[in-house]
Amino acid sequence: MAATRTFSIIKPDATRRNLTGAVTKMLEDAGLRVVASKRIRMTEDQAKKFYEVHAERPFYGELVDFMTSGPVVVQVLEGEDAVKRNRDVMGATNPADAEEGTIRKAFAESIEANSVHGSDSDENAATEIAFFFSDDEIVG
Ligand code: PPS
Repeated sequence: MAATRTFSIIKPDATRRNLTGAVTKMLEDAGLRVVASKRIRMTEDQAKKFYEVHAERPFYGELVDFMTSGPVVVQVLEGEDAVKRNRDVMGATNPADAEEGTIRKAFAESIEANSVHGSDSDENAATEIAFFFSDDEIVG
């Protein structure tokens, strides 16, 4: 199977605890390659737009506040079946449900401060990658 791409965010709870390297190592050990990466502070406008699909959900405001509360590391990951591979190593959204060996089991603090985001489909991966990266920032 050919390599595909997905989009990942190392969230503020993880950057605050200096876990960027530890999270990235788990992604790499899962067979994913970091082909683009940058540390940014998301603006409120960016976070609102990025999570627009959740605008009607009760936690939307808190999610936007959390994602703008500190630096994040946005990454493009490449590998075989990258979207699923990344979701598998991330673990369940709620760390209470996350399996051993996953990033959220190892590091997440709560359903909000759950250390990582990962695209849930190839289509969304393409949209999310384009939201943060230009083509020349991605080096495969
Ligand atoms: S998913 O991945 O879309 O199926 O997960 P979902 O449960 O729909 O959650 C979507 C994103 O919202 C975050 N989330 C929350 N944030 C704050 N408070 C509460 N209660 C909460 N529940 C879910 C969750 O971490 C997902 O963020 P991302 O960045 O997409 O992983």
